[in-house]
Amino acid sequence: MTAQLSATVAKLGAGIGARIDGVRLGGDLPDHVVAEVRAALLAHKVVFFRDQHHLDDAGQLAFARLLGQPTLAHPTVKGESHTNVLAIDSDQGRANSWHTDVTFVDRVPAISILRAVELPPYGGNTVWANTARAYDELPVALKALVDRLWAVHTNLYDYAGDVDATRIGGVDVKEQAYRQEFESLRYETEHPVVRVHPETGERVLLLGHFVKRIVGVSSAESKAIFELLQNRVTRLENTVRWQWADGDVAVWDNRATQHYGVDDYDNARRRLHRITIAGDVPVSVDGVASTTRVGDAAHFSEL
Ligand code: SIN
Repeated sequence: MTAQLSATVAKLGAGIGARIDGVRLGGDLPDHVVAEVRAALLAHKVVFFRDQHHLDDAGQLAFARLLGQPTLAHPTVKGESHTNVLAIDSDQGRANSWHTDVTFVDRVPAISILRAVELPPYGGNTVWANTARAYDELPVALKALVDRLWAVHTNLYDYAGDVDATRIGGVDVKEQAYRQEFESLRYETEHPVVRVHPETGERVLLLGHFVKRIVGVSSAESKAIFELLQNRVTRLENTVRWQWADGDVAVWDNRATQHYGVDDYDNARRRLHRITIAGDVPVSVDGVASTTRVGDAAHFSEL
């Protein structure tokens, strides 16, 4: 095994994203390389590695363990070859709406690691947005408003589109089964709309598609506030778009990003394997922690 030299980090845009070269991912990375990867992750929010063809689920898991304690694959969906590996499979659904992973529980994962397994011949990119920058660029008056807001997140999020699809015969059996497993336990958690990042101290917006409502306002106001803030998060200048190739791995700070899997690959198969690293319970700018309203995610993630 050749010694791992320092990583080289190439920034991909002003707002978010970097490619890291010179690192062969696995469980045997020296401490200084792990520290470099972590520093790049905190600075750029999502980092990409090319040509990691040697990695399988076990290798991905061994690398994940260097970044923290892996969670179970999901609070409700069972794992792939290992209990910690979640299959993101186009046969079961497509993550084509903006979200942060697993925000419906109190223990929101800190980091997600996604590895290409089978890619469509075209399309199927993923886009990430920087939620720290989105907060930072808010006008002062808006910051003052959102600093005090809280939102309820649930895994039974907005499925209206699927109801329509069912009516026209558009949802297939595998997707339906996945959805049932996803919803087999119900979770609801109240999170601050602005959380303080536990490692960087940055204020970040905590929203995305699991949000059911903003607490203490009408449903119309809730929708308006949500849209105003989501539009800030997803401004193109605040995003990076990654075109997957075989051997690619993406690692993102799930505390400071949202992401979107673009559904533009027709009926081709697309599979990626995801491992998430345990995170702590979000805390508001006033130091108040998120509260579980429904469900207990203790089995999913150690604190
Ligand atoms: C995910 O939501 O973790 C997967 C994103 C994707 O399918 O690109």
